[in-house]
Amino acid sequence: MTGPFDLTGKVALVTGANTGIGRAIAVALAGAGADVAVAGRSPPDETRDAVEAAGRRFLALTADFTDPDPATPGGLVAATAEALGGPDILVNNAGTIRRAPALEFTAQDWDAVMDVNLKSVFFLCQAFARPLIDAGRPGKIINVASLLSFQGGIRVASYTAAKSGLAGITRLLANEWAGRGINVNALAPGYVDTNNTAALRADPVRNAEILARIPAGRWSVPADLGGPAVFLASAASDYVHGAILPVDGGWLAR
Ligand SMILES: NC(=O)c1ccc[n+]([C@@H]2O[C@H](COP(=O)([O-])OP(=O)(O)OC[C@H]3O[C@@H](n4cnc5c(N)ncnc54)[C@H](OP(=O)(O)O)[C@@H]3O)[C@@H](O)[C@H]2O)c1
Repeated sequence: MTGPFDLTGKVALVTGANTGIGRAIAVALAGAGADVAVAGRSPPDETRDAVEAAGRRFLALTADFTDPDPATPGGLVAATAEALGGPDILVNNAGTIRRAPALEFTAQDWDAVMDVNLKSVFFLCQAFARPLIDAGRPGKIINVASLLSFQGGIRVASYTAAKSGLAGITRLLANEWAGRGINVNALAPGYVDTNNTAALRADPVRNAEILARIPAGRWSVPADLGGPAVFLASAASDYVHGAILPVDGGWLAR
């Protein structure tokens, strides 16, 4: 592959890539030429097979993003650098969700989501950017946001807070680092058929309501995020900073 979307010689670090959107993004980046490290708590066997089938190098790192250990983000970046080089691309994809009415929402469900979906993302961005800025090298950060970076949602207080906050820190980091050669952007998937949305799809009423509102007329599949991720990881997006790119079948256009 050559041209503005070519990632040959680049190294990507993708969180939560054993399944779902993270796996699809890791495989798409490998298809565009990047070597891939993944960080998460479950074995990424299918992702490894797909990345290696694309002829790229693969590294699996273990991390639980509820872990309060401040050494975790720097350790992931250093381990990637040692094994593969880079990293040049960071995809903050790992995420979790808790559902309950606001009046019954617990502090545990608040912290569990905020730690994984927001706090760990910020500190991984910091650990990724520090060596790049010190060395004067460019980089690309892609945060996986949500429609709930734009909308309120219902029964998902900590998820909405985290994804709205993630849009905010995407813009803040873009403001601080655009001039240092680091692009910070986000993808905002619509309703994607993954483990994260199994409860919604199992509810026939909610499922029908969601489908009726999507202009594209179908749920998203994880591979829908692959091309947009390659774009934001590549030279094609060098002048794109602080964007939250909806990949939602038109949902937000309604
Ligand atoms: N599906 C959607 O409709 C949708 C829409 C908008 C945004 N998103 C976002 O897209 C991202 C990926 O979600 P998905 O839909 O692909 O869901 P998924 O299939 O449930 O994948 C979530 C990934 O995050 C990992 N993860 C969760 N908690 C973790 C923790 N404490 N430490 C390490 N890894 C952890 C999971 O690992 P395990 O497999 O070990 O749990 C898994 O790899 C999330 O940020 C989500 O909020 C999803």
